Formats: sequence, structure tokens, C-alpha cells
Amino acid sequence: MQPDDWRRRPNAPGPGTRLCRLEQITDGSGREFKFGEGADQFRMVVFRTGPSAWGYVNVCPHFWLPLNVLPGKFLISGPGRVMCSHHSATYRFEDGFCVDGPVKGGHLDPVPVEVVDNLVIIGGSPGMES
Ligand code: FES
Repeated sequence: MQPDDWRRRPNAPGPGTRLCRLEQITDGSGREFKFGEGADQFRMVVFRTGPSAWGYVNVCPHFWLPLNVLPGKFLISGPGRVMCSHHSATYRFEDGFCVDGPVKGGHLDPVPVEVVDNLVIIGGSPGMES
């Protein structure tokens, strides 16, 4: 997995795309964002702890399913930890590392996000595309 694999997915948002205001993500939880429709829809999640936010493709690498089953509802399994709703793989917010479960040692696919003037935006630069 390369750091910019997410960019090659259909409907991936470009750098600078505004997602929401930081306070629109519950502190200690996550919020999902979707781009496009149907089978090519790009689904990502942003997790927040205080002023920090981290983005990932919303795909668990166990069975390549979204982390959540219910729309917008993520299972928080402790401070800074999210549990996949399917088979309980548990990931850290800050680096997407799987600390427990069937893909222990694996990673979520990161999507860079930045907080600028309290807005959560897609990070990176257009020049990173290959
Ligand atoms: S699909 Fe996430 S743990 Fe199985």
C-alpha cells in the first residue's frame, strides 16, 4: 500500500476539498464523507481527538468492507480507537494501525486531512498525483 493509493480510487476528492468544520466531528469519534454514487462511490472517514483529525478510506482491510454498518455510526472501543463493526478489528485514530483483531498489524489506507481555520480539508498538493 502506497501513501497515495487513495487518489487512484474513483471519485477521490482533490487536495483542498472542504469536508466540514472541526466541531462537526464529535470529539473522540468519527464522521463519514462520501463522494460520488453507486459502486464507484468514494467513502472516507475522519476521526477527531480535540484539535487533531485523521482521515482514512472507509474500508477495513479484513474483508474490504466499510468500518461502519449503520450510517455515520462508528464503534469507538476506547480513547482514540475505532472497532470495525463486522469482525472487531480495532484501529488507532492517529495512524490507522490495527492493534487487535483479525488484521492485527495491518493499517487503514490513509487520506491526508488538514485543519485550516477550523475547517477540515483534504490535504496534500495537486503535484503529488502520478
Ligand atoms: S471486515 Fe473489518 S474486521 Fe472483518
